Amino acid sequence: MNHILSTNQFNKEEVEKILSRASEMEKCLKDKKTASLLSGKIIANIFFEPSTRTRLSFETAALRLGAQIISAENAMINSSAFKGETIEDTARMLSCYADAIVLRHPEAGSVEKASLVTNIPIINAGDGSNQHPSQALLDLYTIKKEHGHLDNLKIVFIGDILHSRTLNSLVPLLAFYPGNTFHFVSPKELILNEIQRNEFKEKNIVFTEGEDLLSALPQADVIYMIRVQKERFADNATYEKVKDSYILKLEHLKLMKKEAIILHPLPRVNEIDYSIDKDKRAAYFRQAQNGLYIRMALLLYVFNL
Ligand code: NCD
Repeated sequence: MNHILSTNQFNKEEVEKILSRASEMEKCLKDKKTASLLSGKIIANIFFEPSTRTRLSFETAALRLGAQIISAENAMINSSAFKGETIEDTARMLSCYADAIVLRHPEAGSVEKASLVTNIPIINAGDGSNQHPSQALLDLYTIKKEHGHLDNLKIVFIGDILHSRTLNSLVPLLAFYPGNTFHFVSPKELILNEIQRNEFKEKNIVFTEGEDLLSALPQADVIYMIRVQKERFADNATYEKVKDSYILKLEHLKLMKKEAIILHPLPRVNEIDYSIDKDKRAAYFRQAQNGLYIRMALLLYVFNL
């Protein structure tokens, strides 16, 4: 069964197939060709954490492909999890009703746990600070579209390196392509943890780390801003201390390469000044739009279509 739990499950060939399927979907939507490839299917969208883009683009993707949706948002309150039901039991029930599940949950590893007891495909829409595969694939799709290639790029991640599931999912995908190097900019409280560090080292991923924004910007082909993930902090004092560590402002644009792009998985809180939105290098809304095409491709992938 084709679950999508982590980007570590894919090889380069599979990733390229998903990217080209997404491109097909983009063209299909632009040409106003409606597809009914998922007609008759029911997709359960169950979100135990807040979401705008991931949930609504998965729902749009399903509807555009002719599927129907059942959903629970705010599922910590609006599902039987509130009464103490385990994620495994919830997943078991969903597999009695739907043909696939899209699941977001605050606990790392929870989507994999759910996948062990379902007999329908399950897509990880973000599990704690672990993985967010659909986001990483749409990031990759965006980089390819904007730069025209996926190799020989310097990718600079800025912000909450420690808690970022999007970073965890994206770095190994970019590492499939030769010549890519990574630089992680964060306050010392938010540097890579040992698990992330070991995983990247095992994969021979070339990376450097630092705290300085100004010296990092001129080298970057891709600037990837990361929100400080308030919901992952055990104590509010640390969050308050680091929350505004890096804010990309108008004056920073002149330090960047002309052909660099700025990405952000969104939502932004304070990491990117609104004045930057007009610059052509600000690619984050185009990035979010690409999420629809990737999620259409992923729904097809789990059904072997
Ligand atoms: C990200 C997430 O939830 O992991 N957002 C998203 O899915 N587009 C990043 C974030 O919330 O900062």
